[in-house]
Amino acid sequence: MELTDRSKILVTCARGLGDWVAKEVEDLGYVVLVKRNNGVEIKGDWFDVMKLNLELRTALAVLYLFHEFKAKKPKEYYKKVNSLPWETLISPNEFISIISRADTPTIDNTMYVGQLTKDAIVDRIADKTGSRPNSGPKRDNVVINTFWMADRCWIYLNTSGNKLADRGYRKMPFKAPLQESLAAAVLMASEYGGSQPLVLPMCGSGTLAVEAALIALGRKVGLLRNNFSFMHLLNYDKDSWKDTRLEALKKGTKKLSAPIIATDIDKEAIEASISNATTAGVEHLIDFSVCDFAKTPIPKTDNGIVLMNPEYGERLGDAKKLEKTYKRIGDFFKNDCRGYSGYVFTGNLNLAKHIGLRTSRRFIFQNAKIECRLLKYEIYKGSRKSKYQTNNDQ
Ligand SMILES: C[S@@+](CC[C@H](N)C(=O)[O-])C[C@H]1O[C@@H](n2cnc3c(N)ncnc32)[C@H](O)[C@@H]1O
Repeated sequence: MELTDRSKILVTCARGLGDWVAKEVEDLGYVVLVKRNNGVEIKGDWFDVMKLNLELRTALAVLYLFHEFKAKKPKEYYKKVNSLPWETLISPNEFISIISRADTPTIDNTMYVGQLTKDAIVDRIADKTGSRPNSGPKRDNVVINTFWMADRCWIYLNTSGNKLADRGYRKMPFKAPLQESLAAAVLMASEYGGSQPLVLPMCGSGTLAVEAALIALGRKVGLLRNNFSFMHLLNYDKDSWKDTRLEALKKGTKKLSAPIIATDIDKEAIEASISNATTAGVEHLIDFSVCDFAKTPIPKTDNGIVLMNPEYGERLGDAKKLEKTYKRIGDFFKNDCRGYSGYVFTGNLNLAKHIGLRTSRRFIFQNAKIECRLLKYEIYKGSRKSKYQTNNDQ
């Protein structure tokens, strides 16, 4: 397959991040052909594949459509997959992993489709080269995604492998960390662009702080990884990848123009944050300290962002005890964060009512299985008490 061969590209993301991945892809100049809750479809070649893997902050994987066909029965499916020129793409020395999804009357076990696909591919490579690649669940090498819906089948080359959200910097997760891609989307929703002061009380393991620093520098998150699945295909062109990386490196050299402050009451959280930020190479850009959120230093400004991800009583803490914390967050915004936009990311709307301020925007997110909201509060500069009404409109 030539690097300039264009095909359909499916950019997948965690459920609920479709709008954010669409925005990122459009900002990179692509036309979104289809948008779903869990990804977008665009068109592109292997240069686009490299660029997307390097640049997308909110995506999970970049899938390049290799072939689509019709099949009704497993035998027919095997034959069609086996007829594809796999030996031109995959060396017998590679390790293959298959991710399959099926919703078709002749199959009642989607794992069986994975098995069929794997057999069809390795049998073909063995026929043509005399040796069989190994296979298993590890996604560090060649990864193939297959979808079989009714009588239609799509075979994609998963060019990312391990999730793009796994940037590799979070060696110390601490408690209930946000997935990196979700943290990036939350920052996008808060309109953080790197030029305004950002205050992150309750920073936990520092995911929001690290993602913010990467955004502020314009640093492409893919530069933190050195392994993508496309590197394991026979059409991998090292020189083009080097050029794409160099291009990305040149773009990621902005200077930090406003502070990023991250605090947590737990010393271990701050230790984890510092360690993670160090691995990401941004530790020197973030002011970390251990304190109660209400003691977080707030720089004077009229365009700052204060963003908090308190526990919400589902996985951690206890909802009743947290009511007081949420009320204190409202008081903190009102009394200490004038001139800021206040944001709270929470999965518990009942607790959010205890903040006692009017929300000006709400964004829906999904954090694992929990539907969450990012709630925005305008906090006016000066004393405009009439704006701080308590209501239950979250
Ligand atoms: C849900 S976790 C934040 C996770 C974080 N977004 C991440 O990705 O790792 C909530 C954090 O709030 C901190 N916390 C709880 N009560 C606090 C308080 N009164 N002041 C400051 N931090 C507090 C906890 O120690 C915990 O790290």
